[in-house]
Amino acid sequence: MHKITQVMPYIDESELDFIGKSVRDKWLTEGPYAKLFLESIKDYTGSEYAVLAPNGTLGLFLALLALDLPRGSEIIIPSFTFFASASSAVFAGLTPVFVDVEEDTYNIDVSKIEELITDKTKGIMPVHVYGHSCKIDKLMKLAEKYQLKVIEDAAQGFGVFLNNRHVGTFGDVSMLSFFADKTITTGEGAVVLTKDERLYNKLVLLRNQGRPHSGTFIHPSLGMNFRMTDIQCAIGVAQYKKFPDILKKRLEDFEFYREGLEGVGDLRFIRIQEGSTFVPFRFFIRTKYKKELLNFLEKNGVQTRSFFYPMHLQPALECFSNKRSLPVSEELYETGICLPLHFYMSKEDILFIIEKVKSLFKDV
Ligand SMILES: Cc1ncc(COP(=O)(O)O)c(C=O)c1O
Repeated sequence: MHKITQVMPYIDESELDFIGKSVRDKWLTEGPYAKLFLESIKDYTGSEYAVLAPNGTLGLFLALLALDLPRGSEIIIPSFTFFASASSAVFAGLTPVFVDVEEDTYNIDVSKIEELITDKTKGIMPVHVYGHSCKIDKLMKLAEKYQLKVIEDAAQGFGVFLNNRHVGTFGDVSMLSFFADKTITTGEGAVVLTKDERLYNKLVLLRNQGRPHSGTFIHPSLGMNFRMTDIQCAIGVAQYKKFPDILKKRLEDFEFYREGLEGVGDLRFIRIQEGSTFVPFRFFIRTKYKKELLNFLEKNGVQTRSFFYPMHLQPALECFSNKRSLPVSEELYETGICLPLHFYMSKEDILFIIEKVKSLFKDV
């Protein structure tokens, strides 16, 4: 049976050429491609300062270490996110406090943050989920009022702008991931952005054994190894050049799905945040027949993924859950399915999925 996978990175000869050059040059750790990749991301996002990180999870951890918030400080995080938003905070010695999200955009509900702020609150970690921006402009005003640090988890946000400003450039520090399922990828990898020179200098030291550059054995401060390899960055350079094509196809395919599934059964769709561009991460649907549809599509060779399981219900985070119900995050998990969206999908593949979805709704 023909299997339609959730994701498949768009890889061709250009990645192989750059990898080949990197290997032939025999500079395998961060080198010319790392520099080029980082400069491209800085240019594109308009970020003043940036450092690479081995992956998004460690990128968030690095960003939080650099902020150096007092141990046990509370940090407000949306419950509807990937586990790494919360786990990075816990590993950085912070206490995550979970807030609900908006029913239609799935992003942090800024109107619910204020009631959670206590004397111990020191930061907010908004997450830009599924390829569009949260209400980060509104959130920044609130953070300013309470003097809270803002760490943007823009893991899924490459290419997303709110009112012409790239996500990840609003807060004190942010992270964009280049994991294999992201819009452009280095396999594993991430970038940490900041506009604060002092914070940038801390990031530089923390990520490279506490020294400003390699080649010295004098370490002015403590630091670890958060570097990437030049081979990964060679892939990143090739991917970066392809972003316009990837985006164009994703937007077309998203629209094609949408037209085909409009009005089918009880399906509901995402609402894109006003003022935000959209870089579709997958095709998202919500239905009360989630389980039936997931099983049916899997049986028909379509790889599906559920929406996130809420952070406040995670077994591993139980000690941070104050038993408050966060109904929207819970409902999103109960109803949400991600359908495949990637460069190699044909219109026939999408039509096949649309027909399968329609056929299930005929029977329920
Ligand atoms: C919202 C969010 N935060 C953090 C991460 C962690 O990034 P990485 O997989 O690069 O560690 C991801 C995903 O992959 C994510 O989707």
